[in-house]
Amino acid sequence: MSRIPQHFIDDLMSRADIVETIGNRVPLKKAGREFKACCPFHDEKTPSFTVSPAKQFYHCFGCGAHGTALTFLMEHDHMEFVDAVEELARELGVEVPRESGGPARRPADDLYAVMDKAADFFRQQLKGNKTAVDYLRSRGLDGETAAGFGIGYAPARWDALIDHIGATEQHLRQMSACGLIIERDQGGWYDRFRDRIMFPIRDARGRTIAFGGRVMGDGEPKYLNSPETRLFHKGRELYGLYEARLALRDIPMLLVVEGYMDVVGLAQAGIRWAVATLGTATTGDHLHRLFRITDTVVFCFDGDRAGRQAAWRALESALPGLTDGRQMRFLFLPDGEDPDSLVRKEGAAEFEHRVEKAVPLSDYLLEHLQSQVDMSSLDGRARMAELARPLVGRIPEGIYRDLLIRRLAGTIGMEEDRLARILRGDRSADARFRPATRGSPAPPSARSSLVRQAIALALHHPGAAARAEIPEGLASVELKGIPLLLELLEICKDNPDIGTAGLLERWRERPEHPHLLTLAATELLVSEEVAGTVIEDTLGQIVHRAGPDRRAEDLLSKARGPGLNTDEKEELRELLARGSRTASRDHKSR
Ligand code: CTP
Ligand code: MN
Repeated sequence: MSRIPQHFIDDLMSRADIVETIGNRVPLKKAGREFKACCPFHDEKTPSFTVSPAKQFYHCFGCGAHGTALTFLMEHDHMEFVDAVEELARELGVEVPRESGGPARRPADDLYAVMDKAADFFRQQLKGNKTAVDYLRSRGLDGETAAGFGIGYAPARWDALIDHIGATEQHLRQMSACGLIIERDQGGWYDRFRDRIMFPIRDARGRTIAFGGRVMGDGEPKYLNSPETRLFHKGRELYGLYEARLALRDIPMLLVVEGYMDVVGLAQAGIRWAVATLGTATTGDHLHRLFRITDTVVFCFDGDRAGRQAAWRALESALPGLTDGRQMRFLFLPDGEDPDSLVRKEGAAEFEHRVEKAVPLSDYLLEHLQSQVDMSSLDGRARMAELARPLVGRIPEGIYRDLLIRRLAGTIGMEEDRLARILRGDRSADARFRPATRGSPAPPSARSSLVRQAIALALHHPGAAARAEIPEGLASVELKGIPLLLELLEICKDNPDIGTAGLLERWRERPEHPHLLTLAATELLVSEEVAGTVIEDTLGQIVHRAGPDRRAEDLLSKARGPGLNTDEKEELRELLARGSRTASRDHKSR
């Protein structure tokens, strides 16, 4: 946590004017109760970036960027959190107090400095080590490329880095916070990286935030990576992105590969627009970053089963980001090859040719769905529509989605409008594809969705949440999200003026932060006047629906209607056996 007191941030957020902060940097135009602009985070011609003075929140319908005034300063001006707080305070003409009263220098600064020192040290060590240099040569790497990526070598000693940086208590604490050293059970410390080729992982500003270390030869593990630290969050970083931006002024396309050596090998061959995820699946965060820089992202995967699985996961996480003008393609490599080996074998031109021929996302999606059903039967084609529904539902409205629906309709052999209605979940469109569920209960997921709605309502209308009566029993409801909801309501009650942005800032350092940002960005269509009633109603439904009696009731009414599946029958049997009152009454009356 920062050493800036929370009450100061609360106060800052209630005084800040996001329209002013953003307006100073991006020309805003008033549009009803909000302000609009062409999004500063991606390339666009019609404005989809909106700023809400009521929520003190910005959101781009194009690229999905969103957040508070502080988020904006961090993302737009590339500031660290503390700098953003200071900037906002400066704009409002207030002084930032410090809890410790200590110096303004921040611990994170020191950690970056330590990482830089380590990176320098490893680079120096490479020069003096013939085995390491020979290894890199044997892999076909030239000195210029190695230098461009800052590649180094960690000596085969337990304390080379500790010796170099110094074993004072402060240094040890910092190196440990950077994940560079490990504590022994019996006390004392040793270097994490030993006798390995070191690939520094740099952030957008070129600061080293982590390392990947490769053994020379066949040792295990082949790669040893930095752990998650204050500076490094694996699911967010992309290896090679800084280097790509440094090498190219314009980045028309980015290629996502798997490995360090793939990025480096491709760069040496002249393909400077490759980046790698760090041994993780592609996340929404990754995509958000990629699409901020370019409109075309090509994913490179092995042609084997695991590769196809990874590709499908990447596709699923990419759907919400597929706004018009963006393109995603999939490149499947021949068995046993990776981009590094392939570009060496075939040369850059041939490799680029493969990239050009990569399968567009929509083709891949249709192919994949078709392979899962029997397209020769009517049922199979109906099933394809069912499979497509959740996927299409995640693509933002726009031409991209419309075109995909058109192609789906063609493949299934159905009228486009009709399919569009079915995909929207309009049951009247075709009873065949969705059994009638009129009068049947909300599925179990509906209750979690109520919790989510309540959280969103409290976020959007903290004042109303502060006044809302909390029904008895809410705290003992066992659903995911209840503790978060309770905490939100409590903060609202204690600080009725906190506002949406103020609430979001309370969560900045917590894992739920991105989730809350997304909820804050969601259109709720609930006005301030009725918000109080809607919140109380929603809370009431959560408590009511959560009871086992309610569940039994739901199942019974479903049994009367569309019927139960095997799992549901089993669940109902169990509920009835527990002697749930409401349920047995209903049961008898059948
Ligand atoms: N990886 C990892 N930890 C491992 C193995 C792999 O973090 N134990 C990550 C690394 O980022 C690595 C990527 O997964 O670069 C791909 O792994 P792999 O294909 O095995 O390695 P290559 O990049 O091809 O490396 P090399 O060519 O040096 O064998
Ligand atoms: Mn390889």
